[in-house]
Amino acid sequence: MEPFTKALVVEQPHPALDDHLREIGIEPVRLREVPDEEALVEALQDTGAQVLFKRSRVPVTRSIVEQCPDLYAVQLCSIGTDSVDLQACAEHGVLVFNDPVSNGRSVVELAVGHMIALSRRLYETDVQMHHSEWAKSSSGRYEVRGKRLGIVGLGNIGRAVAKVAEELGLEVLFHDTRPVAVEVGTEMGWQPVPDLEALFRTVDIVTVHTSAKDTWGKSNSGLLDGVLGQLGAERPENSPRVFLNLARGNLHTSEALLDAVRSGAVRRAAVDVYEEEPAPGQRDWQNPYADEPRVSCTPHIGAATQEAQPRIARRVAGTMAGFSRFGSIRDCVFGPRSQMSVRANARGHVVLAVVHSVARGTKKAVDDAIYEAEASNLGSSHRDFDIGVAYDLSVLDRPLSREELERLAERSKEIARDPEAVKVIRQIVVPAPGF
Ligand SMILES: NC(=O)c1ccc[n+]([C@@H]2O[C@H](COP(=O)([O-])OP(=O)(O)OC[C@H]3O[C@@H](n4cnc5c(N)ncnc54)[C@H](O)[C@@H]3O)[C@@H](O)[C@H]2O)c1
Repeated sequence: MEPFTKALVVEQPHPALDDHLREIGIEPVRLREVPDEEALVEALQDTGAQVLFKRSRVPVTRSIVEQCPDLYAVQLCSIGTDSVDLQACAEHGVLVFNDPVSNGRSVVELAVGHMIALSRRLYETDVQMHHSEWAKSSSGRYEVRGKRLGIVGLGNIGRAVAKVAEELGLEVLFHDTRPVAVEVGTEMGWQPVPDLEALFRTVDIVTVHTSAKDTWGKSNSGLLDGVLGQLGAERPENSPRVFLNLARGNLHTSEALLDAVRSGAVRRAAVDVYEEEPAPGQRDWQNPYADEPRVSCTPHIGAATQEAQPRIARRVAGTMAGFSRFGSIRDCVFGPRSQMSVRANARGHVVLAVVHSVARGTKKAVDDAIYEAEASNLGSSHRDFDIGVAYDLSVLDRPLSREELERLAERSKEIARDPEAVKVIRQIVVPAPGF
């Protein structure tokens, strides 16, 4: 099989994506309207798209995956994967990719901006001024320098916030359950706090940057409900007691944050994400913080900047270039921080890429089929994903024939006693250097 040639693009990622795709031989078809399930299936079938590029809203359901056998990959032009039925994709060998890095800077700048704006009560003062109220006072206004910042989740964004905050003279404390994150943070000179409640009680500002699940797959839903009311409890009276959630809408309920604000535990807060966010075009959405001016609200715009969107377009096109031409993977959401490539050995050869079940023996069946075909395996890479699929890359000196590939699939099914053991096989001919 040749590298991919067609992509469907929905939800209007940055227009530069189309040029990047054409540069790698993929012709994009862009839908102007947000498609419902039926329209998406129709468009995928009509275009024969091998890749779907989308942002975070349009659902990719089991039914869509089942009706579109030409689809090999879903590439999210965002981080969150909630809109995709990952299990259905895995079962059908459709790999799902995201972009966990390109929008980080935009979120960092929004967080830092909020820290200062909320500590100085800028948002409400601006509203007063627009009502021609001259309320000049230092009451409830604080500098951030010298204050203690608590970061929950020291990943890509948490780390970058910490660096900027340090430059502003804040003391950085953090809580993360991932040992590597604790190691890195400690190395940077930031103070790890193993207990979440202790972190809340001993800092002046909390900003939360956790993922949807912790590193062991446990959901973070409701993580902060029990601790919001403790913010700054052990800090002096001049503590700004600011809370920021630009990460995930389900990390706390809106009731828990409103209670914390009304009790005075949190003086000011900013949220960019909500438990329920409106579907595209939905008009009857209710902001749970509408009546609370001390909670500043934005409509999930953490990454919505002129700079982040083209950066995302460039990265996701690069991710797909590697997957399409060499079977390489990076940013595959089935395995966080996943990277696999046989590119270094592949020039002038053939890459055999197989998505198969993790049932015992399936991997061996792939290797046996290569051996029996008397093809030389010049390099390989393999990974089992927790979601129940494995990905196998082999560089061969020649392509396997249709019969040899069928034998590979049959043998895998027999050994694994699973008719769906082999989900997808791609053979990619990689041009020799100079072509
Ligand atoms: N508002 C927006 O538009 C926007 C844009 C980009 C990212 N985000 C969100 O920001 C968040 C952070 O993104 P990132 O790229 O830094 O993610 P990341 O995966 O690099 O880091 C997340 C960190 O949180 C830690 N963590 C997870 N569960 C935890 C728990 N229960 N307790 C303590 N630590 C925990 C992880 O160990 C990891 O270090 C994500 O939820 C992402 O969806 C929002």
